[in-house]
This record gives sequence, C-alpha cells and structure tokens, in this order.
Amino acid sequence: MTNDSPTFTPLMPTIGMEIHGIDLSKPVPDDAIQQINDMLCNNGILLFRDQHITPEQHIAFSQQFGRLEPHVADQFNLPGHPEIFIVSNIVENGRNIGASGGARHWHFDYSYREFPSLGSLFYCLECPAEGGQTQFAGMYAAYDALPEEKKAWLEDKKAVHDYVYYWENFVPHRGPLTAEQKAELQPVAQPIVHIHPETGRRTLYLAHNIATHIEGMEAEESHDIIEDLVAFATRPEFVYTHEWQANDLIFWDNRATMHRVLPFDEEHDRRRMHRTTLVNEGQAAEQSELAEAS
Ligand SMILES: [Fe+2]
Repeated sequence: MTNDSPTFTPLMPTIGMEIHGIDLSKPVPDDAIQQINDMLCNNGILLFRDQHITPEQHIAFSQQFGRLEPHVADQFNLPGHPEIFIVSNIVENGRNIGASGGARHWHFDYSYREFPSLGSLFYCLECPAEGGQTQFAGMYAAYDALPEEKKAWLEDKKAVHDYVYYWENFVPHRGPLTAEQKAELQPVAQPIVHIHPETGRRTLYLAHNIATHIEGMEAEESHDIIEDLVAFATRPEFVYTHEWQANDLIFWDNRATMHRVLPFDEEHDRRRMHRTTLVNEGQAAEQSELAEAS
C-alpha cells in the first residue's frame, strides 16, 4: 500500500466516512493528508480499520494535521509519550493505567481550554465484546436543523466550561487534581455557535456536565437550556454509534462533532484506548488577532 490514493465510503448520511487504502504504519504523503483533512472537515469523523501502529506512528500521523497538546491530567499520559492520553478501566499494580469512568456525557475534547481542540485520534487496543461504543453527533446537521429564532437567540451566547467542576462532581474516583493542574484549568467562556475555521459552517458547541451555565444567566435556567440543546443535537438522525474492534482508529473533528462513550462492564471487561489531541490553532490565531486589535 502506497497511501497515495485513499477512498471513502459514508458511515451515515449526516456524519462520518470510512477511509480505505491507508496504512498508518507507513508514511502518508501530503496530497493524501490534504484529502483526509478535507474529508474530516466536511464529515466530522473518519474511521480507519485494521491499523497496526506504535505510539510513535500514532503521534507522527497526528502531527501531520497540527500541534498536539498533552492532557493536563498528566497522570494518565503514556510514559515516555505524553502526547498520548490513555483511556482505560484496567488496573495494574493497584493503579488505574488510564482515565476511566468518564466521557459518558456528550462533550468536545478540551472545550474547557482557552484554545480547544481541532481533533482527536482515538486508537483502540482492547475493547469489550459488549458496550463501550463511542457515539458521535454531527453538529453541522444539528445546527442547521434548529429553528431560525433559536439560531438568532444563540448567536451571541457563550457557555462557561469548567473542567474542575466536572472532574470533582462526575469523576471524583480518578483522584484529586493537583493545585497546579487546577490553576491551569480556569473556567472559560466559549461561543455556543462556533464557525468552523475551514468550512465556514456553523456548529453548536456545548458540553454536557462541563458547560456549567450560559454567561449572564442563572444556573437553573441555563441548565434547562443546555439540556434541551444537547437533547436536540443528539437526536438519532445526527448520531453515529461506533462498535469498536481492536486496531480501529477514529479521527474526529472536535470543531464539528460531540461524542460520548456508552457503558460497559467495567469490573470484568477490558477497554484500552490511546488518544492524541490536536490544538485548534485556527481559533488560537483568531483570538490572538482579536486581542491585538483591541
Ligand atoms: Fe472525549
């Protein structure tokens, strides 16, 4: 396989493509990277099956799309390769080898960072026979389907994303965050309507349990609005559910898709995933230009 002519087949009418003709253990030429990037931006997620890659190859492929940012909760980053965040329920030597029990809520990776994520590349090493699927919701289709008056109302609204609140209230079993980690995780306000920097299309940008409230509104009223929007945006016609097989890799666009994991038997089954996370440099550049202009 020379990796120079990928082909694509749709996963769902509103979201997702499976990619064929690419072996991620070998170099991927720039032309193919461009095609893959275009497909990602327009379809939200890309599925690569039957990939046999090392952490170095996972990182190298990811870096062809931008800069990677290690997770702030660095206790779950792969030793020697901090660019890889381990998601796993497996316990070794009395300690969980990865972040577990989270991500059951709909979210975008790094929405709580000043510059959120462009995309994530999630590689399956082990997965349960039942459960543990990842669901992806396409936010282009969800935004487009909103009533016009709702779109107009949302246009200038911002939601406050607070990862410390999420960690302490929904995944306290992962252990406490350090003072240093908390200092890096100040709440940030993100526009609810995002404009995708590459396609120019509008998307909904929220995160269940991380988006604590809408700026300038009471928590309770905000909560109901956020719940309603997430429920609307995750209606079945916008959602692809992925049944993992070992050696699948999914590259999702964190600017255009929300995701969550479905439950599995965490006590008896093993799930081990490696994730790299790209920074949304487009947004970072846009915000620094705005800051300079003001
Ligand atoms: Fe996630």
